[in-house]
Amino acid sequence: MGKLDGKTIIITGGAKGQGAAEVKLATALGAQVVVTDILEEEGKKIADETGNVYLNLDVTSPEQWSNVAEFTLNEFGRIDGLINNAGIDQRNHGGVVTTPVDVFRSVIEVNQVGTFLGMNAVAPAMISQKAGSIVNISSVAGMRGLRAVAYVASKWAVRGMTKTAAAELGSSNVRVNSIHPGAIETDMLFDLGEDSINWLVSKVPMQRSGTPDEVGETAMFLLSDEASYISGAEIVVDGALITR
Ligand SMILES: NC(=O)c1ccc[n+]([C@@H]2O[C@H](COP(=O)([O-])OP(=O)(O)OC[C@H]3O[C@@H](n4cnc5c(N)ncnc54)[C@H](O)[C@@H]3O)[C@@H](O)[C@H]2O)c1
Repeated sequence: MGKLDGKTIIITGGAKGQGAAEVKLATALGAQVVVTDILEEEGKKIADETGNVYLNLDVTSPEQWSNVAEFTLNEFGRIDGLINNAGIDQRNHGGVVTTPVDVFRSVIEVNQVGTFLGMNAVAPAMISQKAGSIVNISSVAGMRGLRAVAYVASKWAVRGMTKTAAAELGSSNVRVNSIHPGAIETDMLFDLGEDSINWLVSKVPMQRSGTPDEVGETAMFLLSDEASYISGAEIVVDGALITR
């Protein structure tokens, strides 16, 4: 018996990094996963390896979100969970003076609007089932200021929308929580380059970066019935990075 037996879970950005780890963990715990991403080849590979289905989903598209929700309901009859995991970094790591508005908007569009659209697409089914769990992947950047104004804005928004959705959907037994990863070993971290990674890890009290599975296990708990009274919470997975 796995703690996600019989549950159908949609995961965005499931082709690689934390999303791919979550696909594998959820499958091992008994869930049927709908793997989604914009990276079709990698996404199909993970889906094939785990015996799941893959659908193309650009999280900024309301039409594609409707298709994913409709497909999931037609195929599996319910939507028990959603991990809004897809996200992009702010490439130029600019502040308020140096961030071009098109960069700002593109980050907001994926990280913030994408997360909103995900909740918007699955909530009606969860409300009618009177059950569901939504896990929104924010960041430690959603809890403090950092030199990446668009990324920070988008991740604070994810945290705020999580609280709002938890309050709105609570009476329907739909739980909504956010996870705030620190330095996690995926391309998003590796793209920063060795010097920045070493500097960042030196700030972590636990003196190491985290693995995608360490974030994934937290998401599995929040999706499961073990977390049946946890909603509107924010869980930091950062080796104590933001304690100082
Ligand atoms: N790695 C870290 O250190 C770190 C820290 C804090 C938060 N996060 C957050 O964790 C989440 C997962 O990132 P990751 O670390 O696995 O990085 P990653 O770059 O390996 O994976 C991101 C995934 O999102 C997908 N994606 C990007 N734009 C998309 C779009 N428009 N529609 C659908 N999918 C899209 C990518 O194709 C990719 O599969 C993101 O929300 C990220 O902001 C990461």
